[in-house]
Amino acid sequence: MEGMVAKWYATNTGRMLDEFTKLARRISNQLPPGSAVLEVAPGPSYFCIELAKLSPYSITGLDISKTFVEIARKNAAAAGVRVDFQQGNASNMPFPNDTFDFLLCGAAFKNFGQPVRALQEMCRVLKPGGRSLIIDLRHDAPPELINQYVDTMGLSAVNKILTKLAFRTMLLKNAYTREQFELMLAQAAFRSFDIQEVDIGFEISMTK
Ligand SMILES: C[S@@+](CC[C@H](N)C(=O)[O-])C[C@H]1O[C@@H](n2cnc3c(N)ncnc32)[C@H](O)[C@@H]1O
Repeated sequence: MEGMVAKWYATNTGRMLDEFTKLARRISNQLPPGSAVLEVAPGPSYFCIELAKLSPYSITGLDISKTFVEIARKNAAAAGVRVDFQQGNASNMPFPNDTFDFLLCGAAFKNFGQPVRALQEMCRVLKPGGRSLIIDLRHDAPPELINQYVDTMGLSAVNKILTKLAFRTMLLKNAYTREQFELMLAQAAFRSFDIQEVDIGFEISMTK
């Protein structure tokens, strides 16, 4: 089951490559070559791969799913870039303290079983002064905005219906509000954080 969902997700988000390319450019503009970057829960890893094409970063991807780690490795090899993909849990990361300059976690935080632990781990593995960006759906995203967003994903008619249904049934239910994020972030040791509403989600920037 996990493998089937992973493969479905990899195929469907592949069409949104443009978004990942734009995000990678945006991040790369603020990140010196040689920086150590971690993507938490990269799934098929489109972001890491686009980032790796832009500059000689040292990039690591950590995902709990064996299938996604395999898909990500294949995708990176096909793109001719080097990313170190490891299987592991966001709430118990296999990395020493103070390792990364930048960390991204996109469309995954709401799935974590121990979200506060995951935030504490993100803080622990960042270098002092390191930055972290979480991008995820917000619980109060209006249905019209979600429908518009799904319409831009380039999905087939059937997949559009299934994706809208997934948003309404599972995804929104798991997503957090701003207040919930603030309470969770207060339990990690970041020096500062900022929560911005962007489209159907939040962009949460944290600095250690
Ligand atoms: C919806 S996908 C998002 C993938 C990618 N970040 C993107 O934007 O396309 C969610 C990912 O979170 C991973 N995941 C869920 N729980 C996790 C955990 N506790 N630790 C690490 N990865 C996790 C899943 O295996 C999956 O790859």
